[in-house]
Amino acid sequence: NTYIVVMAGGIGSRFWPYSRNNRPKQFLDILGTGRSLLQMTFDRFNKVAPAEMFYVVTNKHYLELVKEQLPEIPENQILTEPLRRNTATCVAYATYKIAKSNPEAKVIVTPADHLIVQEDKFREKIDIALVACQEGNKLITIGIKPNRPETGYGYIQYISKPGDQVKKVKTFTEKPNLKLAKTFLESGDFVWNSGMFVWKAQSAIAAFETYMPEVAEVFEDGLAFYGTEEEESYIKKAYSLVKNISIDYGIMEKSDKVFMVLGDFGWSDLGSWMSLHENRKKDQSNNVIEANAILYDTQNSYIKVDSKKLVVVQGLDNYLINESENVLLICKLDAEKKFRTFVNDAKNKG
Ligand code: GDD
Ligand code: MG
Repeated sequence: NTYIVVMAGGIGSRFWPYSRNNRPKQFLDILGTGRSLLQMTFDRFNKVAPAEMFYVVTNKHYLELVKEQLPEIPENQILTEPLRRNTATCVAYATYKIAKSNPEAKVIVTPADHLIVQEDKFREKIDIALVACQEGNKLITIGIKPNRPETGYGYIQYISKPGDQVKKVKTFTEKPNLKLAKTFLESGDFVWNSGMFVWKAQSAIAAFETYMPEVAEVFEDGLAFYGTEEEESYIKKAYSLVKNISIDYGIMEKSDKVFMVLGDFGWSDLGSWMSLHENRKKDQSNNVIEANAILYDTQNSYIKVDSKKLVVVQGLDNYLINESENVLLICKLDAEKKFRTFVNDAKNKG
């Protein structure tokens, strides 16, 4: 009675030019394992629930990609979105659809693009959350011990009682500014939100009704259409009616029913070239090389060239070189804040 909702509609712009609008990061084998991040997510959760319990929510443009990469999942379990309306909308759609036939169901919501190192430990934590979510309409998030003042994550302050595996959350702050992130990190009372959630369908619905009543109303009104011929046209209308807002801002920051299970299983959201560099095999000078390359005096760099071109490099430290299709990007490895600009300016250049 456990459903897996995979959120696979993001664009992954910080991996440009390797990650493109027509093939974002979750569809790429960025770890070089032979499986894309979406496929790895499926494999990981398929040990928790069988394929018939999955819903993959994605943009309509990625339907073919999902079908191709996850042939195990029947097409009626791939929920396509007509517009990008962020994770609150994506979660609401899947949740109301599940609740239509099974309001008591447990639901695990997960991103499609993360790395989890110790899968056994991971499943242990998921099991703890699946048991705990059955009582008291709990909204459970998996927390990660932070190691830097990252501003792209949610921060969770929790009440620490020794021996408690499921901790009551005091505050949830999505994407704080750097000053606040540093304070959180130094205080030692905070963990990052991993973006994985465990709850009962009806607990999530209760939260939508309380904190996002407009969204609840729209998807509640659609109940008669889910699973029928009219689902697609209803969803098109529904998506045009709701605001673009993430589940973190919409519900997790506001609810007093949030709990946290610590995810000490080795986690990365592979959010940037830098984090990918951390997780890939390096040569003696700390370079990741996915290219036919000769290097001189070069360290801490990432060189990924998809063509067969011979790449000769000298004197680089902390650089990224990525040639993918028609784009060659050379920039600092830690330039992740610049990628929005790169992508926009490249679009204008044509
Ligand atoms: N279907 C669908 N539709 N999926 C989406 C959409 C959408 O409109 N927008 C994003 N996603 C998917 C992404 O592909 C990703 O797998 C997941 O939802 C999370 O979205 P991100 O856009 O990557 O969120 P974030 O990284 O800024 O922040 C979230 O994750 C952090 C950890 O990685 C938040 O939950 C933070 O609190 C958290 O710390
Ligand atoms: Mg993310």
